[in-house]
Amino acid sequence: MLNAPDQEPHPFRGGVGVGFVDPSDASLGEHPPPPSPSVQGRGDTWFTPLLADMHADEIDLTPRRYGLVAACDGGLLEVSGLSVPVGALCHVSHGRGEPLSAEVIGFRNGRTLMMLLGDTVLLRPGAKVRPVGSPGLLPVGEAFLGRAVDGEGKPIDGLGPIHHRSEWPAGGVRASALDRSPVRESFDVGLRALNALTTFGVGQRIGIMAGSGVGKSVLLDMIAHGAEAEIVVVGLIGERAREVSDFVERHMNGIKRGHTVVVAVPADHAPNLRLRGALLATSLAEHFREGGKRVLLIMDSLTRVAHAAREIGLLLGEPGAARGYPPSALATITKLVERAGNSAASGGSITGIYTVLADGDNQDDPVVDTARSILDGHIVLSRDLAQRGQYPAIDIAASLSRVMNDIVPPGHQALAREFRAMVASYEANRDLVLMGAYRAGADPVLDRAIHMHDALTAFLCQQQGEIVPIDDSLAALGALIGHAG
Ligand SMILES: Nc1ncnc2c1ncn2[C@@H]1O[C@H](COP(=O)(O)OP(=O)(O)OP(=O)(O)O)[C@@H](O)[C@H]1O
Ligand SMILES: [Mg+2]
Repeated sequence: MLNAPDQEPHPFRGGVGVGFVDPSDASLGEHPPPPSPSVQGRGDTWFTPLLADMHADEIDLTPRRYGLVAACDGGLLEVSGLSVPVGALCHVSHGRGEPLSAEVIGFRNGRTLMMLLGDTVLLRPGAKVRPVGSPGLLPVGEAFLGRAVDGEGKPIDGLGPIHHRSEWPAGGVRASALDRSPVRESFDVGLRALNALTTFGVGQRIGIMAGSGVGKSVLLDMIAHGAEAEIVVVGLIGERAREVSDFVERHMNGIKRGHTVVVAVPADHAPNLRLRGALLATSLAEHFREGGKRVLLIMDSLTRVAHAAREIGLLLGEPGAARGYPPSALATITKLVERAGNSAASGGSITGIYTVLADGDNQDDPVVDTARSILDGHIVLSRDLAQRGQYPAIDIAASLSRVMNDIVPPGHQALAREFRAMVASYEANRDLVLMGAYRAGADPVLDRAIHMHDALTAFLCQQQGEIVPIDDSLAALGALIGHAG
């Protein structure tokens, strides 16, 4: 069937470009799903999306086209004869066995540029490349709850295939700035120190900033376990495979399993697969928010997502600017973080917690800089505290929730300020105090901090597995600062 002149040709078929036609293609005349988001409403039956598809798209009987691998250079494939949009997934055949998957990342001089979602072993020149699925759409749905998947949405938990019925645009659905309703309600993370001293809000975006091995992942684990959320979506991007299996084992067994999804793409996977994992986790969270749910989105780590975006940008020839990061890499994490927040339309929310690798007090790192400017709060972990065995090693004086003053009463703010002032004063004068060089009476705040030091430290410490709800956290703060000392 010919496309009408004013109609866009179907991305996978029709008369654009000089594609190769596969006469043996069994799917000749088969009708692929249209490239439009189909978010399923609650009252729909299973065939409603299919009916919508049939109305939306004309049946296209042109033969299916395929491309041929023309060049492979450092992870970048050049394919001739293909006319598909950026973001489309393709299968590259290599004789027998499972085909390799590749994603379109750009085009140049009539050739399509692709990146393999695996390694290049077995790839040969002239291999056939066929588009699959719907370009730019990721699988989402309730079927993902209780499951662990990879960056393509395929199960990695050995529990059988996932029959998803909805798809979601990988780049998100752009809402107007006014659809983001403000943060008004406090979000219980299950940690005493954070609930009381840096109270977070529902729909807030928070960064956990620390050097490597200071306890970011353990803290995220505690929050995933203790937070008050209807759905928890966890993206483990570019981390160690061992941590992924640990996490899945710990979180996918208990009662919370039914409302948790894990998207895991360990460090040894291709950069576009890591990026896809981050997009999939965010898309899943958006899908649940659309259904009015209170979602917690956890991403470990945002820095690794930026690294993946940097690799892709450099491969496409973009110049590396700040510390080798091309502008598109920093734009990628900004876009990703901006997708979290409250939705006025659905009443749902995504509270986002992202880890950021920040060694020392490194102000030059562009990812730290970008994250700090776009997030609405950050938890700073200190290596000194970790070395002293104080866990979670939260540097409370450096940590900040930018929405706290909007969501807690003035009395609570005053207690939290007093606590922070004492901790900051003690840490600044710690050496003097330990040497015995400080003379009591010189500074009333420091006097009180010295007197209460053990109690303050005990307040900040919390065992892994222990959950302290927000009301208990506030009561404990009131009891400690309000009456003691
Ligand atoms: N709450 C805690 N209680 C006891 N030990 C902890 C705690 N948090 C962290 N640790 C110790 O610190 C180690 C490193 O923690 P974690 O893996 O969370 O660091 P990380 O900041 O995620 O590191 P990386 O940047 O390398 O991913 C843990 O293996 C553990 O020994
Ligand atoms: Mg970690």
